[in-house]
Parts: sequence; structure tokens; C-alpha cells
Amino acid sequence: MTDSTRHLLDVDQLADDEIEALINRACALAAGVGPKRLHASVANLFFEPSTRTRVSFELAAARVGMQPINIEMAQASTTKGESLEDTAATLAAMGIDCLVLRHAEVGIHSKLAAALPAGVHLVNAGEGGRAHPSQALLDAATLKSRGIEPAGKKFAIIGDVRHSRVAASGLRLWPRLGVEEIRLAGPASLLPPGSPSPGVVYCASLQEAVDEADVIMMLRIQRERMDRSGWPDSAAYHADWGLRPEHLESAAPDCVVMHPGPINRGVEIAAGVADGKRSLILEQVRMGVYMRMAIFEWLFGET
Ligand code: CP
Repeated sequence: MTDSTRHLLDVDQLADDEIEALINRACALAAGVGPKRLHASVANLFFEPSTRTRVSFELAAARVGMQPINIEMAQASTTKGESLEDTAATLAAMGIDCLVLRHAEVGIHSKLAAALPAGVHLVNAGEGGRAHPSQALLDAATLKSRGIEPAGKKFAIIGDVRHSRVAASGLRLWPRLGVEEIRLAGPASLLPPGSPSPGVVYCASLQEAVDEADVIMMLRIQRERMDRSGWPDSAAYHADWGLRPEHLESAAPDCVVMHPGPINRGVEIAAGVADGKRSLILEQVRMGVYMRMAIFEWLFGET
């Protein structure tokens, strides 16, 4: 293997046809098309908590014939001073073919990818507030699986956009899929600094963002990425920025509500919305397994 080894570091490295192929493949797998058999091994290295991403990568690996290894990072030799590069080289020496890495440090994935032995693949499963490519891709596949084409639609992304790696990868993906307008809304301290890019508008209220929106994406407050002094009061936050059933009355008639999870009921989203007929939240979780199967197939040159 040469340095052409594929890694998934973010959506912006993917060509348009690769994005389309990954989305279509995830939908095909969800519809019952049989997966490829990869006969490889993958180690999950999660330095931050996870339920959805970690379990779905593990399930996806098993379903494409890979052997998944979960490493408890609190018990791993990185706690004894071993560098991530040395941990990766150690796993590669044992024959591990792929690493799935979640880490708080921005830039660590590209640094590790450059240091990996040829033939060892790296998947970004969450990188600080910068990137979460598999989540953005599974969100796109979720919409497609429901017959919703992003092109020409109005998206509202509401909540702690500033610290959200899901929003960051989404803001790189949605314009490429033809989304007409992306509205961002949330407390000023939780919106990205600087001017919005073309096609992105800031809204002064949740209701303004939701009006006539086709896709509403709610985000939790990423408390782990801010000082405790910056934590909003949950009840006050819900009053201003929590999505409640009445907000949806002015959205597009077929609007859908998404949330990457974990959700905080009664904070950024009311239970009546999370469990309501517009919610795709559990469908996102379901599609996450299929998208991660498609990602493994793509890594090993099968998509
Ligand atoms: N959406 C997401 O990344 O969820 P987890 O933190 O549970 O993996």
C-alpha cells in the first residue's frame, strides 16, 4: 500500500461524486442491499464520551465483516505518557487496519493521518468543535432515505452553533448539496464569530429561523467546550431557544426536525417535538450504522 491510503478527515476532502456515492450506498444498505465483506480490523479510540458514534462504528464494522476492537482510553497506555502516534504504530504492528478516533484537539486527526504507516486508515469520529464528517454524511443520508432532497430547501440550525462540530461539518456539506439558505440562530455568545458565508443568514429568534424552514436541526449546548461561567441557565435557555411544538406551526408543511444527539429534553428541544411526528432523531441514529458501513467500504476502495 502507498500513501494513497484513504482516510476520512472531513467532508471537504471528498469530491462531489464521493459524497453522492456514500449517501446512495448508505441508503442502499438501509434498504437491504448486502454489504461488502472487508476482512479487516478496526480500533475505536474515543478520548471523549460517545454512545451513537462509537456503537454505530462498532456495529457497522461487524456488519461489513471487520473485527472491531474497542479500547478503553481511560485504561490505555496513553495515560502512561505514550503518544497517540506511538499508540497508533503499536496497533498497526498488531495488524489493525483502521483507527476510528474521537478527540477534543483540533488538528490531531490530520497530524496522526500523516504519521500513520501506509495501509492504516483513519476515520474522524469527532474533532473538537471543528469536524464530525460521518454525522454530516449520515444526516444527508437520513434526509435522502425519507425522499428529502436538500437542493432548494431552507435549513435552520439552532442552538450552540459555535461549539458544534456537527454544524461545522454540515456548513461545509449542505451548500454542496444545493441547500438554498442556511439559517443560524442561537444566543449571540453561541453563534460563530465573524460574518456569515454566502447562503448563510443569522436570525434574531428561533421563530424567525423556523418560519417556512424545511429542515430544522437542533443542537445541544456543548458545555464541555465552554467555561462554566458561560453555561446558560437551562430553563431560561429553553424559553428562548428550545424548540416547542407551537414553533412548528409556521414551518414548511412537511418540515422535519433533526438532532445529532445526545438530546437534552426541556433544554434545546421539548419532548413533544423530539417524540413528535416531525422528528427524524432516531432515524438519524439508525442511518448512522449504514453510513458508517458505507464509509468503511469507501475506505477500503469498495464504494
Ligand atoms: N451525535 C454524536 O456524535 O453522538 P455521540 O456523542 O453519542 O457519539
